[in-house]
Amino acid sequence: MTREDLEAIVKLYLRAYKGLEEYAYTHPKDVKAYIKWLLKRDPEGFVLKRDGNRIVAFVAGDANWFSKREWKNVGAIHEIVVDPDYWGKGIGKTLMDRTLNYFLGKGLDLAELWVGDRNERAINFYKRLGFKEKDRYNYWIRMVKKLR
Ligand SMILES: CC(C)(COP(=O)(O)OP(=O)(O)OC[C@H]1O[C@@H](n2cnc3c(N)ncnc32)[C@H](O)[C@@H]1OP(=O)(O)O)[C@@H](O)C(=O)NCCC(=O)NCCS
Repeated sequence: MTREDLEAIVKLYLRAYKGLEEYAYTHPKDVKAYIKWLLKRDPEGFVLKRDGNRIVAFVAGDANWFSKREWKNVGAIHEIVVDPDYWGKGIGKTLMDRTLNYFLGKGLDLAELWVGDRNERAINFYKRLGFKEKDRYNYWIRMVKKLR
């Protein structure tokens, strides 16, 4: 990933989280540090989607995550972001399907994610993909999906 890619991802993240700032980093420096953390967690699980030269989405899957709630290794979806101009076109679903298959290939049997309790777009999106609410922490909902 180039320096330009990283800058573009930061901008994409900030744009996609407009109106949902309570669940997101809002300072570009913090977003950049977060993206770097995601990349470090599992470089193979970090996937970009481009339209020509433009980065329009990314997913940060992590096949090395130890879930304290499950007390075992799970596949974590730490982040998924699609450019608002590209919402509703199936890009998010394609990235998620790919990530869940990646987890399966790593021998994992459960996928886990945390979503903000007012982020209805994302909650509905995850439900359509078969995720179910498992429990909550403050204003975060933990959702899981059995992989096999
Ligand atoms: C959530 C998000 C990733 C969805 O990406 P997307 O590319 O628009 O989603 P898709 O087009 O792949 O939609 C996949 C499915 O969810 C459904 N869906 C998408 N948005 C929906 C909505 N607002 N309400 C209900 N269903 C919705 C689609 O109809 C589709 O279902 P189908 O395949 O049965 O037709 C995107 O809206 C986003 O980036 N949001 C901001 C960042 C964010 O909140 N990330 C999640 C953090 S936990």
